Amino acid sequence: MSAIDEVKQRLDIVQLVSEYVSLKKSGRNFKALCPFHAENTPSFFVFPERQSWHCFGACGAGGDVFSFIMKKEGFDFGQALRLLAEKAGVTLGAPSGLRKQIGDKQREVLFRINEATAEYYHYLLLSTSAGEVARNYVAGRGLSPQTIDNFQLGFAPEGWETLRQYLMGKGYEEAELLAAGLLVEREGGGTYDRFRNRLMFPIRDIQGNVLGFGARALDESLPKYLNSPQTLIFDKSNALYGIDRAKAAIQQDNLAIITEGYMDVLTAHQHGWENVVASMGTSMTGGQLAIIKAILKKLTRNLILALDADAAGEEAVSRSGEIVDRMYEVPSDYAWMKYDDAYDFEAKILGLPQGKDPDEVIRDDASQWQKLITDAKPMINFILDTVIAKVDLESPKDKSTAVDKLLPLLSQIKDPIRRGHYVQKLAQLLKIAESYVEDRLRQFQAAERRRRVSKGFRSPTLAVPALVSSSPLEEYCLALLLQYPDLKSEGMGLSPDYFEHSENRELFLKWQQSDEFPSLEDSLDSSLYEYLGSLLAKDFLPTLRESEVARQQTLNDCIVRLQERWLRSLEAKKEELLAMEAEVGGVTAQLTKLEEQGIEESKQLREVFVKQGHRRQPITRRTEQ
Ligand code: UTP
Ligand code: MN
Repeated sequence: MSAIDEVKQRLDIVQLVSEYVSLKKSGRNFKALCPFHAENTPSFFVFPERQSWHCFGACGAGGDVFSFIMKKEGFDFGQALRLLAEKAGVTLGAPSGLRKQIGDKQREVLFRINEATAEYYHYLLLSTSAGEVARNYVAGRGLSPQTIDNFQLGFAPEGWETLRQYLMGKGYEEAELLAAGLLVEREGGGTYDRFRNRLMFPIRDIQGNVLGFGARALDESLPKYLNSPQTLIFDKSNALYGIDRAKAAIQQDNLAIITEGYMDVLTAHQHGWENVVASMGTSMTGGQLAIIKAILKKLTRNLILALDADAAGEEAVSRSGEIVDRMYEVPSDYAWMKYDDAYDFEAKILGLPQGKDPDEVIRDDASQWQKLITDAKPMINFILDTVIAKVDLESPKDKSTAVDKLLPLLSQIKDPIRRGHYVQKLAQLLKIAESYVEDRLRQFQAAERRRRVSKGFRSPTLAVPALVSSSPLEEYCLALLLQYPDLKSEGMGLSPDYFEHSENRELFLKWQQSDEFPSLEDSLDSSLYEYLGSLLAKDFLPTLRESEVARQQTLNDCIVRLQERWLRSLEAKKEELLAMEAEVGGVTAQLTKLEEQGIEESKQLREVFVKQGHRRQPITRRTEQ
């Protein structure tokens, strides 16, 4: 987590603002006379759930904790950050030696350090007496010398300074080793090796660069696996272990098998399944799946997810809506992926036997593993079958419950033909008339619609994102602008207001004011260097890298979405106010004014929808259902 995020997470906006103005509780929110302009009736509101503030009166300003302090104290972003960091007890600043090296240069250093580390640990495993304990361990787990070599497994010995001394002896700086996540800072000062007495798994990207490490304890000590922390080049949620060694086989077989563990990959490869990679234990739903697809799409469109029995069973069902949504639709706020063309992935689920992972299955009986692969079922079928397997076909009540359970899943399938297919299948399996399922589904969908309407804009996909966490959409848009100068003129039209996160708004403003990259760098407060570096390091999909037209379309789409989100958020805040004022019999004049503004925004919103309708079609070419 960046220092900026940490500050946001630790501070509460209500508490902070109340140090400056006296807030009065008003429903779920707080109000006060606006500290930024003179007024008699309060129009300044603080929204704890969104961790944001807004003045609905003359100044019309709003934002998060940073923008409040910037405005109140007349600070720039860096000053505000330093003040708030102090309040929050967050230490700021990357190690000074690294501060100036942003973007590629810094990434390169980290890659070199990691490579040297992988080689060193590998050597310690193979050729030292200290490594014997680890050699015994890998032998005990049935790993062949070839596998150990192929994956460059290593050994981090017991000492606190082994790697530190080795790498500093090679001329690397302590600060660099810290940035690589290989050292840990001691409380009282100084540093020590992060990984000690562990079996080391270098984690590589598709080109073979070492991104970071996984490290297994050699005994029962906890944590079982220790992984590199997030660094400029490593993020556990978007790395796929083994991809560098699996890519050829994935392409050849036109199939990728996704497991959850390092050991699963090693054992599978050793036994001839070289198309196996691991998501490293992070849940395979949600954004992770989108990332996996982004990495794999050049190689194959066929995935098999090896899920353990629990995950594949009840959990898969209870979260089926989520999984299927992610699988067949563009995730609603996952900006990184959603602009990509095709989503025609075929994902199957391989249900592992209770309590076993692929490593164990393969070592027990490789032919059983092959059979599981052959029997893997398309995701929806898998879920249908899992639910139905638990149904007693003699029990009408069971059947009814099973249908109810599956309604959310079925109603997610937008293509009527596909939906019809599964309705039919379900009816057949349960031995009931199709029309019963259809009726139930219609009722369910009608109820859903009613629920959505009565909640106004707050259906799940339209929900206004809370301000606490980061915004992929804002970051995506900024990364595009920063990395592609050809988008300058298009981006200049974007309003800073659309960036709800102060750090993004600040970077955007600086970008707007600078003519070229170096001057942006110079104008930046040091607190934002690190963040700028991470945005510059973001990878875009090849379609975007290669085509200026695609980039411009994508940027336009981003702008429209940002605008839409901004309008929605304003609208939602107003709705809340209206409801609140109505309850307490609020001032009529103010109400009317708000309502008028509400109408105005609704009009703008409609315009945004129209624009989107025209733009999105050609970009999201099709969405398989
Ligand atoms: P598992 O607990 O299933 O481990 O976690 P495993 O891969 O089967 O390893 P062995 O067979 O016990 O040695 C699956 C994955 O989850 C991540 C690792 O990536 C691991 O491979 N994990 C697990 C962690 O990151 N930390 C942990 O403490 C545990
Ligand atoms: Mn295991």
